[in-house]
Amino acid sequence: MKGHFVVFEGIDGAGTTTQSRLLHEALVRDDVPVHLTAEPSDGPVGVVIRQALSGRLVVKGMSGLRAPGWTTMALLFAADRTDHLDSEILPNLADGITVISDRYVYSSLIYQTETSGDLGNLPWVEHINRQAPRPDLTIVLDVTSAEATRRRRHRHEVEQIYDDRELQERLALRYRELPARYPGDRIELIDGNGETQEVHRACLALVRGLRGAR
Ligand code: TYD
Repeated sequence: MKGHFVVFEGIDGAGTTTQSRLLHEALVRDDVPVHLTAEPSDGPVGVVIRQALSGRLVVKGMSGLRAPGWTTMALLFAADRTDHLDSEILPNLADGITVISDRYVYSSLIYQTETSGDLGNLPWVEHINRQAPRPDLTIVLDVTSAEATRRRRHRHEVEQIYDDRELQERLALRYRELPARYPGDRIELIDGNGETQEVHRACLALVRGLRGAR
């Protein structure tokens, strides 16, 4: 029997990494075979993406060095995703192992389309990602951009190229629209503003429901 594919999504600071880890620990305790992973992945393309996100990789623009444009980023994320699917996600699922991914294709559909400045680019971003199978369950952690900004400040991380407060606010709106935009996909919005364990319990209930359904 194939494993389940569960994905966490949300804006930066929504808690996808924390909730992925907590879900992984809970499933291990339940004796469920489970594999935890993330995008950008730690594969070769993922490493390049992380350098671009932190500003260590720049391109020569007409007026000097700058971050790679949105099309380059979209293609890099899509390439990282096919590599991640081939090397990690699909083999684990085929072995009956549940896979939890901290971000996946919806991050590309939302971040790359939004940073392109034109929602008309969504079909192209969908097109370059069409090889990516849809997860069995996607949990969107819905937090206000004010709360997410507060958490990001608390983390003291190096600033990343998508760290703009106004951009994050627009991304949060797009995430809220996701279930209506893709009604054929199982996408659940969870209020991520609350206490960590409370959010975790809501996520675990959704995943247990998925397993009970089989
Ligand atoms: P993030 O989860 O913040 O990684 P880290 O915890 O290592 O900083 O993800 C990195 C950023 O990449 C985040 O701002 C979302 C963005 N991103 C995209 O723009 N498109 C994508 O397809 C993915 C997977 C991530």
